[in-house]
Amino acid sequence: MTKPGFSIVFFKDSGYRIILNIMGLMSKDIITTVDLPKEDVEEIMKQSEAMLLFLRDGRVPRLLKGKILATMFFEPSTRTRLSFTSAMLRLGGSVLGFSGTEGTSIKKGESLEDTVRMVDSYSDIIVMRHPDMGSSALAARIAKNPVISGGDGHNHHPTQGLMDLFTIMKEKGLRGVNVALCGDLKYGRTTHSLIYLLAMYGLGINLVSPASLRMPAEIVKEIKRSNGCEIREFRSMSEVVSDVDVLYVTRIQKERFLNISEYGKLEGSYRVDRKLLGKAKKGLIVMHPLPRVSEISTEVDGTPFAKYFDHAAYGVPVRMALLSLLLGKV
Ligand code: NCD
Repeated sequence: MTKPGFSIVFFKDSGYRIILNIMGLMSKDIITTVDLPKEDVEEIMKQSEAMLLFLRDGRVPRLLKGKILATMFFEPSTRTRLSFTSAMLRLGGSVLGFSGTEGTSIKKGESLEDTVRMVDSYSDIIVMRHPDMGSSALAARIAKNPVISGGDGHNHHPTQGLMDLFTIMKEKGLRGVNVALCGDLKYGRTTHSLIYLLAMYGLGINLVSPASLRMPAEIVKEIKRSNGCEIREFRSMSEVVSDVDVLYVTRIQKERFLNISEYGKLEGSYRVDRKLLGKAKKGLIVMHPLPRVSEISTEVDGTPFAKYFDHAAYGVPVRMALLSLLLGKV
């Protein structure tokens, strides 16, 4: 239940008082990118850059010594959970949590609300991934400490969107860059978070997907309405590869399909390989939130196009930035 814009501050003389929070991101929740102000995004980019330099120098300040991050992962995760863990440990903090509900009281039927209430009292900040849309917002309403969404169903994955933006900024800059979001744009929560950030910076937005996996119409409409930007839609990557600077490829989200035979029809329907990249615009980079299954051929890995592993590595400085900003230790 953090209150963006306000902080509760203890004054020795007169107890607790609520004051206007002039400290930017401190105590905020990060649930989507939809309502994230540009000044907050700029702050996160700046702080991520600083964290990257600390990491490269091997001299990371122990800004979060004594703080505890709780990771509540109700869905599988490799990068999000481990990069948040790494970020917290690098900054001198500690981590507790669970990955999968086995061994927790959720197995006994405890509600999400009660679980969040408890975990909140054991930690200073929570990162949560859950299969239900809206679960991160619910957790944020309950917890007193900041809640960061690590993905809520097929809705949003805001910290992935932020590290996607950071990767584009580092690799291509943020001026006049043309981006294609490719693959499962219906269930791919990372694209739902990233598209708002692309629009915020006025980057070119191209959507490439099979007809049944198009970006939800309400997102496209909302972005066109609020940013007045042009969004172009395509069915195949070969239509855009010679035109764009970034191919952002996603996995078909098999676990979100209600009808698995539908998944079977789409599996393997798009693939980045050397043949496709033979037509690429000079300097094009291929990004992917990972894990990839078959949508990027391993033959691309050794080429200058492949940025997906660097992309994943940027998760640590970006998450260090988020943890330090939300905990007010910068
Ligand atoms: C993504 C996710 O969980 O939405 N993974 C990640 O966090 N890097 C993408 C995916 O699972 O396909």
